[in-house]
Amino acid sequence: MSIAINTIEENLLEENKRGSCPSEFGFGTVFSDHMFTQEYEVGRGWYDAEISPYHNLSLDPSAAVLHYSQEIFEGLKAYRTPDGGINLFRPEDNFARFNRSARRMVMPEVDSAFHLEALTRLISIDQSWVPNQEGSSLYIRPTMIATSPKIGLGASANYCHFIIVGPAGPYFTGGFNPISVYISDDYRRAVVGGVGEAKTGGNYAASLFISEDVAKKGYTQVLWLDAVEGRYVEEVGAMNICFVYEGKRIVTPALSGSILAGITRDSVLQLAPTLGYEISEERLDINQILADIKSGLITEVFGCGTAAVISPVGQFAFKGEDYVINNNQSGDVSKHLYDELTGIQYGIKDDPFGWTQKVQL
Ligand code: PLP
Ligand code: COI
Repeated sequence: MSIAINTIEENLLEENKRGSCPSEFGFGTVFSDHMFTQEYEVGRGWYDAEISPYHNLSLDPSAAVLHYSQEIFEGLKAYRTPDGGINLFRPEDNFARFNRSARRMVMPEVDSAFHLEALTRLISIDQSWVPNQEGSSLYIRPTMIATSPKIGLGASANYCHFIIVGPAGPYFTGGFNPISVYISDDYRRAVVGGVGEAKTGGNYAASLFISEDVAKKGYTQVLWLDAVEGRYVEEVGAMNICFVYEGKRIVTPALSGSILAGITRDSVLQLAPTLGYEISEERLDINQILADIKSGLITEVFGCGTAAVISPVGQFAFKGEDYVINNNQSGDVSKHLYDELTGIQYGIKDDPFGWTQKVQL
């Protein structure tokens, strides 16, 4: 299928936003001049692929997504390299996860090669939007929504797949500084057999109640425990979680069926052994983790995700007690991994894994 290209003259009003990402942009608030869209109908397949000026979507108020949240999304980034080029990081892995999410949510899959072509053409058209400040990137949000005008419950017959992109700075306002994480004792994110493994909006909506409540008390993220026993560590709101034992062994929860299989998590698991760290994926009891923090066996904790990159955790709160890690300072292992991973992403360091690919501009 070909992609119709309908570009606008560069928007002069937005001129000052291109190529940079000042801190007031924060994360996910500014978007580029164009977007990609395509439509789907059962029996017809995908049609009307188009790159056009960034615009509002027009939906019937009865559109299925508005009522039953049949929706999926992805998050990846494009990085400005020192030679002025643009790198994508493991995009096929995001598109494979998009299709896994689609299958779980009874939505149509998108051909990965076509998805990549649509994205690279969009980035090429809006290349002036890829920021070049340190730590900034172009955040990419592929999304699919169910659009059939029908409020009877059932899988939609129509879908819209779109990609929007925008310059993004650090996800957390403090940059590479430790965050405080609240461990939820009462509320659960996802259950095995449910949709926790899928990147679907409802998982995030379900997390808002307690997240907003504890944000008022200064906690940046919520750590979720398994929904059956409320005992095993799963993940954090926007990240997977890793614990560093004695500065040399990195432990992360094994994928349980309710944890999102993070691409950054997988990158850490592949990268860390090449830097001299041991790694393991285990079922982690929160009581043991907190005891190991108290005894000092756990020397660092960090979250990892596309938006958050590697984010040190300085403190946990659980059942009214605080657990401080590494004196609430960022640690050497987190910094080492951050430097190596971002070095690869930004094309500053060699990429022995073949994770990055240059966008043809
Ligand atoms: N877990 C959740 C719930 C997330 O939203 C994310 C972010 O995408 C992650 C983990 C990390 O996944 P990735 O590294 O693929 O961005
Ligand atoms: C990402 O890291 O890309 C995500 O999708 C997390 C989101 C909550 C910002």
